[in-house]
Amino acid sequence: MKVDVLLGLQWGDEGKGKVVDVLTPRYDIVTRFQGGPNAGHTLEFNGEKYVLRSIPSGIFQGGKVNIIGNGVVLDPLLFMKEAIELAQSGHDLTERLFISKKAHLILPTHRVLDAANEAVKGAAKIGTTGKGIGPTYTDKVSRNGLRVGDILDNFEAKYAAAKARHLEMIESLNAIAVAKGSEPVSTDIAELEKQWLEGVEYLKKFKFIDSEHVINNYIKSGKSVLCEGAQGTLLDVDFGSYPFVTSSNTICAGACTGLGIAPNKIGDVFGIFKAYCTRVGSGPFPTELFDETGKKIRDIGHEYGAVTGRERRCGWIDLVALRYTIMLNGVTQLIMMKSDVLDTFATIKACTAYKVNGVETTEFPFSIDEGVEPVYVELPGWNTDLTKCKSEAEFPQAFKDYIAFLEKELETPIKIVSVGPDREQTIER
Ligand code: GDP
Ligand code: IMO
Ligand code: MG
Repeated sequence: MKVDVLLGLQWGDEGKGKVVDVLTPRYDIVTRFQGGPNAGHTLEFNGEKYVLRSIPSGIFQGGKVNIIGNGVVLDPLLFMKEAIELAQSGHDLTERLFISKKAHLILPTHRVLDAANEAVKGAAKIGTTGKGIGPTYTDKVSRNGLRVGDILDNFEAKYAAAKARHLEMIESLNAIAVAKGSEPVSTDIAELEKQWLEGVEYLKKFKFIDSEHVINNYIKSGKSVLCEGAQGTLLDVDFGSYPFVTSSNTICAGACTGLGIAPNKIGDVFGIFKAYCTRVGSGPFPTELFDETGKKIRDIGHEYGAVTGRERRCGWIDLVALRYTIMLNGVTQLIMMKSDVLDTFATIKACTAYKVNGVETTEFPFSIDEGVEPVYVELPGWNTDLTKCKSEAEFPQAFKDYIAFLEKELETPIKIVSVGPDREQTIER
């Protein structure tokens, strides 16, 4: 019995897709348990590059079974585009990608509602990916959602009722937006809806399953499961920088609710982080750099969103936040990504504590909005090209020291170090 979870410890884009692909040969099944096409998971191998949004990153190695769990929100149109692109590049998934009947559907009007909510918030907007994530999870929790299983049962009527309800909501949100001086959002969804309904038809090519039964039967028969997180712990709806978060539980517990796996079945929890830190969208970010150093990290790290193309905000590694996210997830092994991005920095900073209104603390506070000042230690850079390293033995001493420093501060071993985007540029320790 083995169920391991791999999840992000920062604000997303840590490199989850790359490492899930690397680890896939060790598992029988790979699953996604939360989030939706707000995710963009990038994989590079054999000179090819793929960006996955709703499909798990375990599809490329060894013909493994991949499952989209009940905790995921699925947009049939975006799913269709993703699956067709993969099929065209030789990866037909219809026989080995299964979808939970209990996964909730993102409707065209959810996307419009997402935009309308943002318009009403004006300057206080979340900076969402615009994929309808928040409104779909809202409908789930308010017991108004449509699920994949509904596609097989009187779907047209259910869809029409949901759409009518949404259009009324959009109208009233638009009135508020206009009163506040914001632009109303367009409710002309005819073309989008047409394509979306094609997506619903396309989805039927895939097997809809009672995923909680299927996964638990796999576990019972001795098969191993890798659960792939989306977003990151600092975007978790309960523990992230609320309200600037996503709408799902991105933490390890989300794998239990998002798949129907009992907590005592979870084995290793792989916590993945970058050697520095990034964030897309609005919200607080204590170690953010607004200077040339931040720009240099963005340029070298190609820190632009895989989904929206937006510039990612960049800053130094935040160990206060990492200790917090390691605690919340019960992380057993750490994975450090994008170490090579810091190759040319003479010195590297790490935030070891916060000064909150002048008082130093190592505990992540209720709010990191205002009055939080990072306390840094400065470490020497390694000034070496790490991208060519094939083993730990080839690491320069200053980089080994950086790893040792982080392991001590985080009280958790760093078992994998990534030194470039390619599958091969992954070093295990
Ligand atoms: P995810 O959402 O957590 O899967 O991460 P993303 O794919 O959104 O962002 C990670 C980005 O960094 C992608 O463009 C990857 O190709 C790239 N990447 C992953 N690991 C490394 C690494 O070790 N070094 C460098 N330079 N790039 C990496
Ligand atoms: P992966 O899986 C980085 C951010 C958005 C926004 C907030 C809410 O690739 O790491 P949403 O559309 O979810 O309602 O937006 O969350 N966000 C991400 N940031 N990586 C992601 O996914 C993200 N998914 C959502 O930018 O700030
Ligand atoms: Mg991403």
